Amino acid sequence: MNRETALLLVKEQLTEHRYLHTLGVTETAIKLADKYGADMKKAELAAIFHDYAKFRPKDEMKQIILEQGIPGNLLDFNNELWHAPVGAYLVEKEAGVKDIEILDAIRYHTSGRPGMTLLEKVIYLADYIEPGRQFPGVEEVRGLAENDLNVALVQAIKNTVSFLFKRNQPIYPDTFLTYNSLIESGRID
Ligand SMILES: [Fe+2]
Ligand SMILES: [Fe+2]
Repeated sequence: MNRETALLLVKEQLTEHRYLHTLGVTETAIKLADKYGADMKKAELAAIFHDYAKFRPKDEMKQIILEQGIPGNLLDFNNELWHAPVGAYLVEKEAGVKDIEILDAIRYHTSGRPGMTLLEKVIYLADYIEPGRQFPGVEEVRGLAENDLNVALVQAIKNTVSFLFKRNQPIYPDTFLTYNSLIESGRID
């Protein structure tokens, strides 16, 4: 699928604000893919579709999670997490994207997972640092992403976890498992 077709499909699903975010993620993902040797075409499509399910009704997302047997007790956690695996499902079903690497990058873009692929890391990080993002710590992660994808990713996860800690919000276990996996991979000093 080409960029224009993908963007048209996504635009119908999103608010203007979220569509602009998606364009930012797409440009950032292409740059990161180029820099770190990921497939730029896959990075582009995964980024365009990453928030495809963001505005689906909660009931519909819940039903898909139950029907598809999406693992990980997702329904017990913040519904902000739901649109990622539901998005992977709907992007395949409605947009006809079959590439498992692209679908997995969409699936894990909010939680991460242990042993993330290069493409998954690119999309996770692009979502975090795209130019429209403005929150404490984002500039540091942007700087880290210039030099080391894994170090930047760990910092992004640390920021996310500490944000949730401060607000007394639950933390999805896969986020910790992702952190552990990155630390244990020995690529972080
Ligand atoms: Fe998202
Ligand atoms: Fe996003």
